[in-house]
Amino acid sequence: MSAAGPPQGARPPRGERRQAPLRGGHKGAATVPVIAVDGPAASGKGTVAAGVAQALGFHLLDSGSLYRLVAHKALAEKVDPDDGPALAAMAEALDVDFRDGRIARDGRDVTNAIRSEAVSAAASRVAVHPAVRAALLARQRAFRRRPGLVADGRDMGTVVFPDAFLKVFVTATPEERARRRHKQLIEKGISITMESLLRDIRERDARDVSRASAPLRAAADAVILDTTDMTIAAAVDSVLGLYRARAAETGGKESN
Ligand code: DC
Repeated sequence: MSAAGPPQGARPPRGERRQAPLRGGHKGAATVPVIAVDGPAASGKGTVAAGVAQALGFHLLDSGSLYRLVAHKALAEKVDPDDGPALAAMAEALDVDFRDGRIARDGRDVTNAIRSEAVSAAASRVAVHPAVRAALLARQRAFRRRPGLVADGRDMGTVVFPDAFLKVFVTATPEERARRRHKQLIEKGISITMESLLRDIRERDARDVSRASAPLRAAADAVILDTTDMTIAAAVDSVLGLYRARAAETGGKESN
């Protein structure tokens, strides 16, 4: 599967893996329910989104991985993270294969490589450019396939899927997010101080919130979920509860 294939963490459930994705503009796409899960770095939104997708048998879009892939390629090819047009061309032509939980770029497995702190920092810079964001838009919308999609990112509810059936904005304090990230890295055998993680998280937040194009913010109609004192399981249950309550309210008409 290449560039335009249903990227990523979009593990098509139940044997649909080889089915061609619907295009963003496909007539039927708007009737497929989307749960938008947005929030800042290390808020737990990725884990929550994956848990919700799994519970509902929905596809999953980890949109941050697309920005990470562009950043990873830019670093590898020494393209300036401030060169918007060059990065947008790269985003447009990105050759990526999402399969069985692994991510390959240009035929090479980069699943772990795109999670490094260097790529995280570069991805945040790459994501600032409107041309890069525009180049990734159709690719993200192509994930909207039956029976539904859980989309994780920063602008899922505001820009990519403004008609999402349910929008959740997941937050946690910067200190708690740094603590979670620290735990993850230590488990991977990577040694880093809490201070430097907290500083990175604050810098990334500032950049994500203040950028002109699709800044990180909760959609007006999003439900705010503060996970500072919550387990992942409780956060997943909470989103599932919101989804079911809304589905009951709308009598099963789960698209907007
Ligand atoms: O969620 P993440 O940490 O993998 O995202 C990596 C970077 O990409 C992050 O700095 C913000 C950016 N991003 C974005 O601008 N819009 C998205 N929908 C997802 C991620």
